[in-house]
Amino acid sequence: MKKLLEANVAYGRRRIAQVFGDFCELAALAIRNTVDLNCHAEREERYARIIGEYSSGEALRFGEILGKLTEHLSGDLSDVLGQLYMSLELGSDDMGQYFTPFDVSRMIAQMTCTGFEEVLATQAFITVSEPTCGSGGMIVALADRMRAAGFNYQKQLHVTAQDLERTSVHMTYIALSLLHIPAVVIHGNTLTIEVLDSWYTPAHILGGWCGRLRAREAVREVAASTTTLAASAAAPELLAPLPAAALPPDPGVDIPLFDFDFA
Ligand SMILES: C[S@@+](CC[C@H](N)C(=O)[O-])C[C@H]1O[C@@H](n2cnc3c(N)ncnc32)[C@H](O)[C@@H]1O
Repeated sequence: MKKLLEANVAYGRRRIAQVFGDFCELAALAIRNTVDLNCHAEREERYARIIGEYSSGEALRFGEILGKLTEHLSGDLSDVLGQLYMSLELGSDDMGQYFTPFDVSRMIAQMTCTGFEEVLATQAFITVSEPTCGSGGMIVALADRMRAAGFNYQKQLHVTAQDLERTSVHMTYIALSLLHIPAVVIHGNTLTIEVLDSWYTPAHILGGWCGRLRAREAVREVAASTTTLAASAAAPELLAPLPAAALPPDPGVDIPLFDFDFA
């Protein structure tokens, strides 16, 4: 993959950072447009503009890289794009753009991701948030940890990932999409809560996860208001708990997993 990307530098006509960023954006746009009709035409236009800068041979090379990436991820859970990014020496001090080596992410997941087994014995899924996702390596390590423990990360996990930097958003989106992990990858600033775009993976859209997450919120709101009422002696007629059968089962809980300090 590295050699194919370097070939698209075309004897110094482009910088490798540009070629890598273009590859990631093209792949992310192509995946997203298979499932997301919202703003479809704008993304098609953007795709055409980027690919228009490359010859047909170079465009074929991008296709070959995506094929290799897909092949790689279908056999092994690893942070292929993050490792590729670092091996191309694209890390930058300005944004803290250095990704955790995958073996380290795997070790962190092993040490810190505990307790989900008990939760998943009674709940349908867990939700996880990664506020500075980079290439998504920490999430892939968690998926690997779940798989090793006998769980299905494609069905029992929902991820909300976020990054300020566009190429990171694209890298994470590609990885989570190819691994079929239900997720939304937010392009935005975690500190100011500014959101520029939300990239829903095919697994999220095809699995109806917006509805599943909304149902969970509704259940929680009902549970919270029931508790409030139960605490009120002023309304004894409302003290009776809601019949369990009236409520759908709570399909999941939040487990804060990665508390990353990028300062
Ligand atoms: C050192 S990297 C770590 C990425 C990943 N968590 C890992 O362990 O490989 C830090 C990431 O935080 C992102 N970042 C920095 N400031 C941010 C902010 N305010 N909001 C969202 N992401 C931010 C950077 O773009 C970068 O991708």
